[in-house]
Amino acid sequence: MAQAEKNTDLMEKIVSLAKRRGFIYPGSEIYGGFGGTYDYGPYGVELSKNIQAVWWRAMVQNEDNIVGLDSAIVTHPKVWEASGHVTGFSDPLVECKQCHTRFRADHLLEAVEVFADEKMSDEEINALFDAHRKNIACATCGKKDFTEVKRFNLLAQTNLGNFASDWTKNPTYLRGETCQGIYINYKNVLDSSRVKVPFGIAQIGKAFRNEIAPRQFIFRLREFTQMEMQMFVAPNVEMEMYEAWREKRFQYYLDLGFKKENLRWHQHENLVFYAKAAWDIEYQFPFGFKELEGLHARGNYDLTQHQTFSGVDMSYMDQETKERFIPHVVETSVGLDRTFLAVLTEFYDEDELGGERRAVLRLPKKLAPIKAAVSPLLRNKPELVAKAREVFHLLRKEMMCEWDDNGNIGKRYRRQDEIGTPYCVTIDFETLENDTVTVRDRDTGVQKRVVIGDLMAVLTN
Ligand code: GAP
Repeated sequence: MAQAEKNTDLMEKIVSLAKRRGFIYPGSEIYGGFGGTYDYGPYGVELSKNIQAVWWRAMVQNEDNIVGLDSAIVTHPKVWEASGHVTGFSDPLVECKQCHTRFRADHLLEAVEVFADEKMSDEEINALFDAHRKNIACATCGKKDFTEVKRFNLLAQTNLGNFASDWTKNPTYLRGETCQGIYINYKNVLDSSRVKVPFGIAQIGKAFRNEIAPRQFIFRLREFTQMEMQMFVAPNVEMEMYEAWREKRFQYYLDLGFKKENLRWHQHENLVFYAKAAWDIEYQFPFGFKELEGLHARGNYDLTQHQTFSGVDMSYMDQETKERFIPHVVETSVGLDRTFLAVLTEFYDEDELGGERRAVLRLPKKLAPIKAAVSPLLRNKPELVAKAREVFHLLRKEMMCEWDDNGNIGKRYRRQDEIGTPYCVTIDFETLENDTVTVRDRDTGVQKRVVIGDLMAVLTN
């Protein structure tokens, strides 16, 4: 099979497994779907929570000077004027004149191997599009007949708290990124906790963007979750901090078990005027290397803008150096949904075990939705069922477990392999004699007998 075919095949397998096993469903499916939204099912929500916990541990729990925040999704509309999103948060849009399908111009150019950046000026991207328009066909109707490139604002409007009939004249917005909630609370955190510059604020939360063309499953969504950390630092250490965070964030993925060859750096050349540096960590998704996480040295633009628009002094007095300054920001920003897709891609595997082909999610234990499945060898033997229930209740006090007595034992193993369960615990007739159970390892298929008293230690080690 050619590489491109293999990649499409892998993507289809991941999407199919995600739906079939209850990780991810298309949003509003019974109404025919709703573009750019997906719902996380029973195993999806567990995996998602585990990804968030790993990120939180790395960014808050294991850091001396980073604290958490959960700010409101809907803010005063001035937040988005100050941040520049109301006027400048847009993607380049073209429309097919024949069938009226809308596309992102930079994506159409990318498809004919011409690099375009969504930050290019209108003149630049129109000139580039005009130079290549004869090669660009509409993916829907095949015609090569597009409008000129226009800017399309990605902020989603809402009328929350606005009861006027013409509320669109004075809208507020669903947040386009979670970090604005951090900037507007920087002073509150400084005044109410014991942090001192340099310190960071981390947040996990929903963000909304009116993406022109949501695509590639959960890679580009209209409603998604970001995990962002903003470090507030003195101007003279901004770049030093930035480099330190670049190193930490790359290592984070290696520690999670990602292969180094599936990760790489991409440097942004076309920087927004206030930024000092911007690099992306790219992951090799089934559709190629794409942005997973962005790291940005943002200068003091954000706090300065909010100071100007709110009138609140955002400066910080350094008690040691006696210098007053508006802190600069080093940002790390990653999508939870993109991490989820990267995790499925990285740990999906197929092999042959006991002469049978199987699909297996080789998830690290800390990410696995279910840590152990517990089964009686036979579901129609009350004494086995009663003992298995006892073991199940013992384990589930400490970890996410699943009771699984459906089908024969082989089928149970296949199902648990597909959802990435590291261990299957089976209660058989020997258990009734000597209080031991079999523990089957997902990756090797090897089974060993373990005394029930030692089970917790074996499963958690
Ligand atoms: N505060 C900076 C910021 O929002 P960004 O590069 O626009 O920067 C950061 O977004 C991260 O959020 C991306 O690296 C990606 O992981 C995730 N992200 C952005 N847009 C997304 C979308 N439409 N769907 C899913 N994830 C998205």
